[in-house]
Amino acid sequence: MYGSNKAVTDDTDRTEFRKTEKKYKLYYDQNSKRKKKPKQVDLSEVLDFKSFLDSYHQNGELPPEIVVVDCRFDRPVFGLESRPGFYFIPGALSVDEQCRWIRDSLMSFPQPPNRTNHNAIYGPISDLFAAVKERKVLVEDENMPAGLDSGSNGCIGNEDTCRWSFCEEDSVLSRGRSCKSVSASVLLRKLRWSTLGLQFDWSKRNYNVSLPHNKIPDELCQLAKKLAAPAMPMGEEFQPEAAIVNYFASGDTLGGHLDDMEADWSKPIVSMSLGCKAIFLLGGKSREDPPLAMFLRSGDVVLMAGEARECFHGVPRIFTDKENAETTTLELHFCDENDILEYIRTSRINVNIRQVF
Ligand code: OGA
Ligand code: MN
Repeated sequence: MYGSNKAVTDDTDRTEFRKTEKKYKLYYDQNSKRKKKPKQVDLSEVLDFKSFLDSYHQNGELPPEIVVVDCRFDRPVFGLESRPGFYFIPGALSVDEQCRWIRDSLMSFPQPPNRTNHNAIYGPISDLFAAVKERKVLVEDENMPAGLDSGSNGCIGNEDTCRWSFCEEDSVLSRGRSCKSVSASVLLRKLRWSTLGLQFDWSKRNYNVSLPHNKIPDELCQLAKKLAAPAMPMGEEFQPEAAIVNYFASGDTLGGHLDDMEADWSKPIVSMSLGCKAIFLLGGKSREDPPLAMFLRSGDVVLMAGEARECFHGVPRIFTDKENAETTTLELHFCDENDILEYIRTSRINVNIRQVF
């Protein structure tokens, strides 16, 4: 996953999974390039668990493929007849909970020693979100040779160097053109992932237990245990050890993949959606199986356990237009926090929590 399948372009381009990804992906209308109007897509086949929940509450009715999974949970948990091990909990998180995890995803989860996609280029970056608020710029210190540890910022050797640090915009302008710099707001827009708990090494596609890491924050751990319960064997408790936080801007996608680096596939992956509405594709064990498409809204939680862990899945689309994004409630809650408001209006965050061993 995450670009690890470079050699797949030709063959997978024709798979059923790829065809469906292309169907829902964001394209712009050719003849309205200047206004950048998204091409209309037919959403009539996208499963909508919010409407299933409404109908279930009203008259107990559900479409034939959808089942209520009997469990020890405080709200309806749905499953799909054809995909054992897949669970959908619409609106599992209250708006206050959503706001809390959005705030943490922006301010605390990307903090070192947690790694982000920016580590490989800039080394560890502290306080990115504060730097956005203060309109700071990340600047390279040319006098410090790459590969040497500055000793500050608490970063430790490896490929991580501390050549880059945040500066006031003015001080960068006065240094002239030669110094390399990138604004904090661009870095936030280009933030694609951060990892909590055990750190995942994307280049080796495994968990690298020797990388410095903190435990999953306690409250996230407690929440994940509660959310995982419907997919856990009776009497067993989910043990969150790692989490991957995905950040999506308009046009960003997560290609079809399997999460196969955890030892025990009977344990669920707990996946929380925050921010803009998205389309999630749940395929089968082969890329040739036609995937089911479903909407994921802020506050929805999906569990994938057992057989569903062997199913290809991905996110071909997030909606950032006002009508489809469905972020109005969140926006009201963030009306006093302009930087979060600006971010979440056009972004989606996915926190997915795993038991590794
Ligand atoms: C993942 C994943 C799904 C989502 O990160 O492995 O499948 O909803 N995310 O973003
Ligand atoms: Mn996944």
